[in-house]
Amino acid sequence: MTADIKINKLTTDQATAELARLADVLGRANAAYHTDDAPDIDDATYDALKRRNTAIEARFPDLKRDDSPTDQVGAPVSDAFSKVPHAQRMLSLGNAFSDEDVRDFDSGVRKFLGMADGSLAYTAEPKIDGLSLSLRYEGGRLVQAATRGDGAVGENVTANARTIVDIPEQLTGAPDVLEVRGEVYMSHADFAALNQRQSEAGGKSFANPRNAAAGSLRQLDSRITKSRPLRFFAYAWGEVSEPLSGTQSGALKMLVKLGFSVNDQTRLCTDVAAMLAHYAVIEQQRATLGYDIDGVVYKVDDLALQARLGMRSTTPRWAIAHKFPAELAWTRLEAIDIQVGRTGALSPVARLTPVTVGGVSVSNATLHNEDYIAGKDSKGGEIRGGKDIREGDWVQVYRAGDVIPKVADVDLSQRPESATEPCDFPKICPICGSGAIREPGDAVRRCTGGLICAAQAVEKLKHFVSRGAFDIDGLGAKLVEEFYHDGWVREPADIFTLEERFSSGIKQLQNREGWGETSANNLFAAIRERKTIAFDRLLFGLGIRHVGEAAARLIARHYGTWDAFIAAIDTAEEANAAWEDLMGIDGIGEVMARSLLAAFSAPAERAAIDRLTEHLIVEDAARPQSDSPVAGKTVVFTGTLEKMTRAEAKSRAEALGAKVSGSVSAKTDILVAGPGAGSKAKKAADLGINTLDEDGWLALIGA
Ligand code: IVH
Repeated sequence: MTADIKINKLTTDQATAELARLADVLGRANAAYHTDDAPDIDDATYDALKRRNTAIEARFPDLKRDDSPTDQVGAPVSDAFSKVPHAQRMLSLGNAFSDEDVRDFDSGVRKFLGMADGSLAYTAEPKIDGLSLSLRYEGGRLVQAATRGDGAVGENVTANARTIVDIPEQLTGAPDVLEVRGEVYMSHADFAALNQRQSEAGGKSFANPRNAAAGSLRQLDSRITKSRPLRFFAYAWGEVSEPLSGTQSGALKMLVKLGFSVNDQTRLCTDVAAMLAHYAVIEQQRATLGYDIDGVVYKVDDLALQARLGMRSTTPRWAIAHKFPAELAWTRLEAIDIQVGRTGALSPVARLTPVTVGGVSVSNATLHNEDYIAGKDSKGGEIRGGKDIREGDWVQVYRAGDVIPKVADVDLSQRPESATEPCDFPKICPICGSGAIREPGDAVRRCTGGLICAAQAVEKLKHFVSRGAFDIDGLGAKLVEEFYHDGWVREPADIFTLEERFSSGIKQLQNREGWGETSANNLFAAIRERKTIAFDRLLFGLGIRHVGEAAARLIARHYGTWDAFIAAIDTAEEANAAWEDLMGIDGIGEVMARSLLAAFSAPAERAAIDRLTEHLIVEDAARPQSDSPVAGKTVVFTGTLEKMTRAEAKSRAEALGAKVSGSVSAKTDILVAGPGAGSKAKKAADLGINTLDEDGWLALIGA
C-alpha cells in the first residue's frame, strides 16, 4: 500500500498512485463533511492526510494533479454554503469620480430634503477594498455571519467569521437584535506572507488582498480561514431593535464601545470643502495604511435625515463613494477579438500582453465599439484627437475598481510598421454569419441572427441562470454553456426537461468528468426548486434588452401577476391604453417599453418564452408589506408641495407601498394637489378621483 510508504522513499509511480488516492479520500471526506454534514474521518486524520498530500506535491511538483486537494480548498465553492436572507437588504453605493460629482451629490441631497442652505454634516471614511459581511447578534451573542450575496440573500459563513480576531463573539450593552455590517479585508503584510506560504506549499497565489480575503472567508473548512489572518472594520448596521444613536458618527462610536474596529480615518465634515479636504488626506495616506482602500465614503450624519432620504433600488440616497482615480499602464495590443453578447451586440475585446494595473494583471480590456476604435464618438466627433487603434499598437489601459479595464489611449510613435491597416470591423456576425447591422443612432453593431446565433443563445442562457435571475444552484455559466454545446440545453425551457430526458440516460450526465449520481440529483433538485420563481426574476431572466433587474421589479410590482402582465403586453400597442399604462410606470421609458413589446411579439422569441413558462409557477409580485392605507394605491402629485420636496413625497409614498404615477387616468386612486395645480386637478375632478391637499395627504399617511 502506498499509504504506508514514507514520503522520502516514494518512487515516482508510487507518488502518482498516492496522490490519486489522497485526492479521492480527501475529496470524499470534504463531501461528507460539508455537503452531507456527516464527517467520516476525524479532524486529526484529515489534517494528517492533507499534510501528506502537500508534502508529496512539494517533493514531486510535476505530479501535482489538476484536482489536487491543495487547490480545492482555495476555490470558492458557493454551493456548499447555505443561503441566508438578510433582514434588511445589503446596499451598495453610488460612485463619484470628481469633486464636481461630490458637489452634485450634496446638492442632490439638499434638493431632495428641500434645504437649500443650512448646515448639513457628513461623515467621511476610507472605502475599504474587501468584501462586506453582515454579523447578526441576538442577546449580545453572534448568531450569524452572512456575505452580501445579491444584497437580498447572502451566504452563511458564520463558522468562518468566528475565526476573525476583530469580530467579537459576545457583546455587552448591545441592543437585543443588532446586525453589524462592515468589510472583511487582509493587510498587505498578511497578504504577502500568505502568498509566500502558498507558493512554498505549491498552492495557488492570490492576485490581490481582496481576492485573498474573499477566498479565505469562503473556505469550506473554517480551520483554513483561521490560518488566514483576516480583519474586519465595522461601518454600518442592518436590523437593530433599538437605534445605536441619532447620528452616523455617534453610531460608529457606539460600535467602538461594543468592541468593534472602526476605521480611525473617519471624520465628521460640516461642508463639501471639508469632505474634499479629508479625501485629499486619505488619498495621501493610501500608500502607508497597510491595507487596500479604493476611495472615500461620505454619509449624511443625521440618521433622521438618512431615513427621509431613503434609497433607490440598490443604493442609498444618503451616501456616496468618492473613488480614487483609475490606475493606468501601457502595454501591447496583440489582437482585437469580437465577442457577441446576449442581445447580439458585437463587442471588440483587446487582447493584451499582460500588464499589472493597480496590483492586478490585465490581459483583456474593452474597446467599446467600432467608433471608439476609429477614434470617433457617437456623434462623429473626435476622441483621442482622432487617433485610431490597430492590432500591434502600444496602448494605455485603464482600470477603476471592479469595472472591466478599458483601452484609454494609443501612442502613435510606437506604432509598428506592420500595423498598416485600420481595424476592419466585421459586418457579419463572426459566430453565425448573419448580417450585423447598426440601427441609426446606435453605436453598437448587432448580429441579426437572434436565437439561431449560438453566441446569443449561450449568452442568454448564461444570463438566465445568473444570480439576479434563476440562480440555479450548481448550474453556473460554464456548465450551461457546456450543456448548450452538447446539445442538451438550447433554450431556457430545456433546463426544466433535463431530468425527464435524462432519467433513463442519467449515466450520460453522471459520466461527465467530475460528476456522480449525487451531483446529478442535486442539480435536478435545484432545478425543480426553481420551477417556482418570482415574477421579477423570470422577467429579468429572459434577458430582454434594456430590461434590467430594477425595471423587472418595477414591472412586477405594477402588474402583480404574470398573467396580468402578459394580458397587458398582448394588448399593448403604441398609444393605446395598455401602452399608456405601461409607460405610466415610473422608471419605464419608451425605449424599454418598445423593447418589451418587441420581445413578446416576435414569434420565435415568444414561443420560447411560452415553452418556458409552461414549466413554471410564477409567484405573484410581493407587494411591499405595508398596512398603510395607501399601500397598492396609485397616487399622483401635482402643484407645489410645501412640507417636502416632490422627490421626497414620492419616495415616502413608494416606501408605504403606493405607486406614484406622473399622469392622471381612470386608474388613479388619489391626487395630491398643492397650490397651482392645473389640468391634472381638473381631469381628476372630471373622473371623480379622490383629491387631497398636502395636509390631507400627510394625515392619511400618518406623518
Ligand atoms: S457603507 C449603505 N462604508 O463598498 C451603504 N461601504 O461599493 C453600505 N465599503 O458594499 C455601505 N468601505 O462592501 C460603506 N466605509 C464604508 C465602506 C463600504 C467599503 C464597501 C461595501 C459596499 C461597497 C459599495
